[in-house]
Formats: sequence, structure tokens, C-alpha cells
Amino acid sequence: MKLVQHPGEMADLSALWRQEGRKIALVPTMGSFHDGHLALMGQARQLGDRVVVSLFVNPIQFGPGEDLAAYPRDLQKDRGLAASVGVDVLYAPSAQEMYPPGFQTTIRVAALAKGLCGASRPGHFDGVCTVVMKLFQQIMPHLAIFGEKDFQQLAVIRRMTRDLDLAVSIIAHPTVREESGLAMSSRNGYLQEGEKEQALCLYRAICFARELVKTSPFPLAAADVCGQIAENINTTPGCVVEYVEIVDADSLESCETINNNSRLILAVTVNRKVRLIDNAGLVEL
Ligand code: PAF
Repeated sequence: MKLVQHPGEMADLSALWRQEGRKIALVPTMGSFHDGHLALMGQARQLGDRVVVSLFVNPIQFGPGEDLAAYPRDLQKDRGLAASVGVDVLYAPSAQEMYPPGFQTTIRVAALAKGLCGASRPGHFDGVCTVVMKLFQQIMPHLAIFGEKDFQQLAVIRRMTRDLDLAVSIIAHPTVREESGLAMSSRNGYLQEGEKEQALCLYRAICFARELVKTSPFPLAAADVCGQIAENINTTPGCVVEYVEIVDADSLESCETINNNSRLILAVTVNRKVRLIDNAGLVEL
């Protein structure tokens, strides 16, 4: 596996692959790889002839007071893990080269980026879209794989790709969970052992909502289910709900009643320091 650190070198390599007729699959990441990332890389290996994993802790998607400085970084470990699943190129550019002096362009997806995580993280999705667009330009992938764990991010990227006529297929990979049900995330590394148990309140909320939907003889009011979930979580010691919503999986607009396309989506803070997100469809199809 090759480590590429300069945008120009990456673009040259991708241009060569395209000339050779290779299909390029991209997995965009911020590193600190866990089994969830490795599953995305495995899918990229199946779908593409050349697999590029980008590793870039994107400063412009972090707000003031967020965890940019603390975000876990271990290039050597990540390098070994990516190589072990057959990645061709680990692309790890520097912030200086991604955002040279004078950089001032932003991509904004308006409505989809507003609510949910966008409400408490203003500008977050602008930062995500801008960096993903830059990665697409540099790597010129035929397809890019994003985890469903960041469901709003996936919806926003899909919208950007359609709106700007980008010739990249966006592939969703289902959330990878620990045996306990906890969704895998680099931020789980901030949790102490005991806190992992508290963090399970998100997965429990999903199971609770699915069970309600499964056993109800009539369509459930989304607001009632969200209210019960919020109450359950807020009574879990140390856990505070930031939001719990049941939305349409495509528009991300709130549902009145739960239907086949409804998605439960939630953000919770554990012990005031670790912010976790999760989501799931509620109707077994
Ligand atoms: O999901 C992430 O890891 C990041 O938001 C992404 C898509 C790599 C953009 O920095």
C-alpha cells in the first residue's frame, strides 16, 4: 500500500488509473480506524479496482470548543490496518495543502444540513461538503462509500452530489456495531469502560422503538415515541438527550406517524463530555 501525502501526486495517480480504465473506490475518513472503517474498506475492495482511503482530520468541520485537538490520530497504526484489508493508497494530505492561505470557498447544502446535528453544530456540514468535494476533485473516484452511522452526513453528501452533477456514485454502508449494539465510532475511544454501558442507551432506544412499532396494531405518532425515548435516556445516569427525532429517511423532515421510510435519529451526551449519535430504520421490511 502506498502512502500519498500531496494532492498533486494523488491527482496524477488517479488520472493514470482512469486512463488505464480502472474503477476507483474511495472511503473518506478522519482516521483512528475501527472495524466499521475496515468494513467500508472491504466493500470498496469488492466494488473497485483501486481503493483509496483518505485520512484527513478536517479542521473546518469542527466548531469552536469541539474536539479537533483531541481527535485521536495514529497514522502508523492506521497505515497497518488499511494495508491489512487490501487498500491501494492511503491518502493523508496536510491541512496546509488542503487549505492554503487565501482559501475561502464553502459548499452549503441548505435545508438538509440545518436540523438534527446541524442545529448544534453550525457550519459542520459546510465543512464536510467542502472537504468531500475537494477529495472528489483530487481522487476522481467512480464511487465513494459512507457509513450510515452518520445518516445526516450521508443525506447531505447525496444531495450535494446530485445538485452539483458529480459523477460519483454514493454508496451507503450499514452501521457496524459492537456485540453490545453500540455503534462503532472513533469517538467511543473517549469513553471509559463504565461509560460504554451508559452509551448503550442509544442502541436501547432503537430496540425500544422497533419493538413498539412491531407490536402496535396502528401507526404510531412519532412525537409520542420520541417523548418516551427522551424520557428513558434522560433518566439514564449521566446521559442527556441533545435530540431525538423520527424523520423521513430522504428529506430528513419530521414524520407525524411512523411509516416504512421513517428513521429514528438521535444524539446524546454522556457525562457531559462524549457526544454520540446513532440512527436506524424502524420498520422491518
Ligand atoms: O465521516 C467522516 O469521517 C468525515 O466527516 C468525512 C466524511 C471524512 C469528512 O471529513
